[in-house]
Amino acid sequence: MMDFTSRQVPQTEIARQLDCIEQIRMRNLLQPQAPKFFCQTFGCQQNEADTERIAGMLCEMGYTRTEDAQQANVIVVNTCAVREHAEKRVFGIMGRYTHMKDTRSDLTICMCGCMVQQEHIKEKIKKSYPRVDIVFGTHMLWRFPELLLQRINGSKRIFDISGDPKGEIAEGLPVQRDEGCHAWLSIMYGCNNFCTYCIVPYVRGRERSRKPEDIEAELRCLVEQGYRDITLLGQNVNSYGKDLGIGMDFSDLLARLDAVEGEYRLRFMTSHPKDASEKLFATMANGKHISHQLHLPFQSGSNDILKRMNRGYTKEAYLALIQKAKEYMPDLVLSSDIIVGFPGETEADFQQTLDVVRQGQYDVLYTFLYSKRSGTPAATMPDAATHEEKQDRFNRLLKVQEAINQQRQDAYQDRELCVLIDGMSNSKDGVYTHCGRTDGGLLVLVRGDDLQIGDFVDVTIEKTSLRALYGRALRKGYHG
Ligand code: SAH
Ligand code: SF4
Ligand code: F3S
Repeated sequence: MMDFTSRQVPQTEIARQLDCIEQIRMRNLLQPQAPKFFCQTFGCQQNEADTERIAGMLCEMGYTRTEDAQQANVIVVNTCAVREHAEKRVFGIMGRYTHMKDTRSDLTICMCGCMVQQEHIKEKIKKSYPRVDIVFGTHMLWRFPELLLQRINGSKRIFDISGDPKGEIAEGLPVQRDEGCHAWLSIMYGCNNFCTYCIVPYVRGRERSRKPEDIEAELRCLVEQGYRDITLLGQNVNSYGKDLGIGMDFSDLLARLDAVEGEYRLRFMTSHPKDASEKLFATMANGKHISHQLHLPFQSGSNDILKRMNRGYTKEAYLALIQKAKEYMPDLVLSSDIIVGFPGETEADFQQTLDVVRQGQYDVLYTFLYSKRSGTPAATMPDAATHEEKQDRFNRLLKVQEAINQQRQDAYQDRELCVLIDGMSNSKDGVYTHCGRTDGGLLVLVRGDDLQIGDFVDVTIEKTSLRALYGRALRKGYHG
């Protein structure tokens, strides 16, 4: 077992970053007007959470946030590498942002996140995007203040994707969360699973768990600040704690967090089927604050493909697992990720995937066409299917799921659900003025008197669509 304390970024290092923040702040105070920053985030919730840290540091530095890149003095683009499409989009917008430097000598452009953590991408930016000022990888996030200060002080362009792939955890840096009642709460970073198609373990490093007391302290703080819908984040939350050596697993952590008093909901993602357990389902079912929502990606229904994906479970084991979860939580809202067109996938393999979709009866499915990621084992596997065949499978999958979705949505007609109001709706009829989420995370547009963001309300569902449920507020109140 590794010495956990060695994984924490030393407090002296954090203090050094806080000092850099202060130096930039003093400088910004001298400006006639507070300078502005603009952040753009690609990718998953982990990246969104990272952007909140970067935004937190920038706010402390005296920058104010703008949603208009043209107004910004600092632009930060937080990138994703999971599929080729995401990378192409980033390069597209970088052209636009760097062009702004024609007329803006005071603009600093930064790129960070998973995509830039790759050596070949770093080289491409070096050569083809000479106006990008700072490139920093996922392991360097906490050093952003220092890198920005160096560049402002006139250093040459900075490319830092170093850092320990075994990873470090930085506590005690500021965070600027999006407004509203929802908050991300990272409980661990990195991934050890090396699914053969996936770039994440290469760009995010090894699994490392935050200490339970740090997570609990952050949760208490969030609840006190009025956050009501809190999502615990990790690439595979089910392996939480394995590296800590304190005999605590994810279910134990959930139970500990659930004991924190307050009116809030706890969700988590993502769960890997190979590590999800009956203990987890029991903890969810018995919890006061834990939502009955499970995102349990199965990727493919074919045992042959699952093996070549290195997923560590079979179709049968997966189906038994979701059966068990539904026994514990009959009201479970279940979602999954699927990859269509993995190298070597045959029509028969694909039929197995459709079979799991039909048996699983998912509320939400996230479906992806396989995208080759250089450096991953799957990138060199032979692949006979054409793009058209894959696209055809993809379309058929969407059709099957759409029918299931419709049925599942319709089944909520006339049911009473507790909804957390989290925003104003833009429904065209103007009747359903607010929107919110059920315990399972389903979107509901709500009508009623005196609705406030942050209210828990019982809602009776009066109509449904594929995209949303529509309901009338009956009464306010948190049930836990
Ligand atoms: N850690 C999470 C998800 C990470 S990436 C998990 O294991 O579930 C989110 C989703 O992107 C994956 O579940 C997978 O369905 C998809 N994905 C990852 N790599 C991909 C690739 N190379 N091509 C297409 N989809 C991919
Ligand atoms: Fe990628 Fe697999 Fe890790 Fe998820 S569990 S991040 S799919 S390697
Ligand atoms: Fe993308 Fe990185 Fe998330 S590759 S999906 S932003 S972990």
